[in-house]
Amino acid sequence: MNRELRKTVIAGNWKMNKLASEIKAFSDELMPLIPGYKGWCDAVVCTPFVILPAALCAFKDTGVGVGAQNMSQHESGAYTGEVSAAQLTDIGTQYVIIGHSERRQYYGETDETVNAKTIAALKTPMTPIVCVGETLEQREKGITNSLVTMQVEVALSGISAEQASKIIIAYEPVWAIGTGKTATPEDAQEVCKVIRDVLKTLYCEKTANAITIQYGGSMNDKNAKELLAQPDIDGGLIGGASLKPDQFAVIINAANQ
Ligand code: 13P
Repeated sequence: MNRELRKTVIAGNWKMNKLASEIKAFSDELMPLIPGYKGWCDAVVCTPFVILPAALCAFKDTGVGVGAQNMSQHESGAYTGEVSAAQLTDIGTQYVIIGHSERRQYYGETDETVNAKTIAALKTPMTPIVCVGETLEQREKGITNSLVTMQVEVALSGISAEQASKIIIAYEPVWAIGTGKTATPEDAQEVCKVIRDVLKTLYCEKTANAITIQYGGSMNDKNAKELLAQPDIDGGLIGGASLKPDQFAVIINAANQ
């Protein structure tokens, strides 16, 4: 991470876990564990839609942000079961994860839908966290860098430099998600640097240097420090370890050192 140039952001992705009734206890346990936390690094929890109001209430005035895990690319209308960007911002949601590999894998999301959702999110004050990353098969074929380059190019197509500077990119190798297999700091750095170079080509050095790039995939209290020490890793998108306040706190504190 490079604090002079850009923000460090530690975001928890709770996926389909936790009940509204459990969130106050979570925040009550977390906040005393991050006493120095004053927004030096931004900490965020991304929760299922239905428990966003409880999360917004529990984290009110703590400095910890709250995000959703998905949104519709459409503004409003006959899209049963979907949630719009305006509905999220209306209740105070500050972040939204877009194109998580689980959405791509199980719900047919493509680079094109990721692009449409990112454009829709940028019409609101929310910060989109746009996910990219390769499968094990793609890594073994040696196409990681070209694939991630394409994912970033398509996700950002039609997006100006000014808009892009509001986006967070999360590099999440699919084979590292929920498997306990973390990318080595060197491998994660290599791909995050590729992403930074794509941003330089698409925009300019200044814009690329201002964009936060997170690593995600089995990041935990043990390996966070080493991953965050890499020059192009500016934070983490954390699944399993974000469900436990003690582990999540260690990661936030590692980013604050
Ligand atoms: P894990 O940290 O559980 O591997 O999940 C990573 C992830 O998918 C975050 O979005």
